[in-house]
Amino acid sequence: MKTFDGKIVAITGAGSGLGRALALEFFKAGAHLALCDLNIHGLEETRQLTGDTFGRISLHRVDVTDRAQMRQFAQEAIAHHHQVDILVNNAGISLTPTPFEGISDEFFEKVIAVNMWGVYNGTRAFLPHLRTRPEASLVNISSLAGLVGLYGYAPYAMSKFAVRGLSETLQSELVGTKISVLVVHPGGVKTNIIRNAPDLEESQRDAAHQNFSRMALLDADSAARQILRAIRQKKNRIILGTDAKLVNAIRQLFPGNFPSILHAIFSKAAFK
Ligand SMILES: NC(=O)c1ccc[n+]([C@@H]2O[C@H](COP(=O)([O-])OP(=O)(O)OC[C@H]3O[C@@H](n4cnc5c(N)ncnc54)[C@H](O)[C@@H]3O)[C@@H](O)[C@H]2O)c1
Repeated sequence: MKTFDGKIVAITGAGSGLGRALALEFFKAGAHLALCDLNIHGLEETRQLTGDTFGRISLHRVDVTDRAQMRQFAQEAIAHHHQVDILVNNAGISLTPTPFEGISDEFFEKVIAVNMWGVYNGTRAFLPHLRTRPEASLVNISSLAGLVGLYGYAPYAMSKFAVRGLSETLQSELVGTKISVLVVHPGGVKTNIIRNAPDLEESQRDAAHQNFSRMALLDADSAARQILRAIRQKKNRIILGTDAKLVNAIRQLFPGNFPSILHAIFSKAAFK
């Protein structure tokens, strides 16, 4: 896809962080946007930040874990904009780092519901329409934790490996069609992901966010620009951030020692 001018882009989780940064970059590049999030105030802020005065943006309050709501989002986005050319399955959540045995079933399932079933629901809802476009992109946001299992992130890694699995399967199934599939593996990105962690008390959010922000190396704007470039170049996978590239390389160089290396690094991290 050479240009985004006049293209219609649907983005989930566009009320904050990477989803918002993607919305701003696509808007600057001339796209029209169908943005969804659970948080309608976040979506309003995103729209304000674009400075849209021509009605190029529609906002939709959607829970990506709800298949019927995602189907309705697709119908409304297509009805409003007449087409959708790009879907970015971006909405996601993380718990604070906690070893597997300390995570309740409820929190585990919540992460899987948003990160895995949310991507499934988005793909199900939009893929038939993307097939009708002369050129289309499906972009799924995985993580470094979709390349390597990360200490303290069991449900997150499980969900992000699933996102990678679906994306890579679709890449081969869609060869010969006009749809390209990009899976994105960012390391730490400076967003609200830990501030929004469902396992935090309100009183813990600011400190957890500050700790996380010190370790996250990449700005959301820079991540978004790299993702747009990768869509233009029809790449099927990108790894974003020095941390993600380094950890992935260490895993490939030292597969036997990798668990001990991660234990040494991450068992000392505390975000709460
Ligand atoms: N920040 C990082 O370090 C990092 C690293 C790798 C991957 N990612 C991935 O990037 C994506 C964006 O996360 P972010 O870092 O911008 O976090 P964020 O918390 O800043 O933004 C996530 C957005 O998703 C929305 N959301 C959450 N649950 C939802 C639901 N059920 N339905 C609809 N919207 C929902 C939130 O309201 C929020 O606006 C996620 O998939 C995340 O896993 C983030």
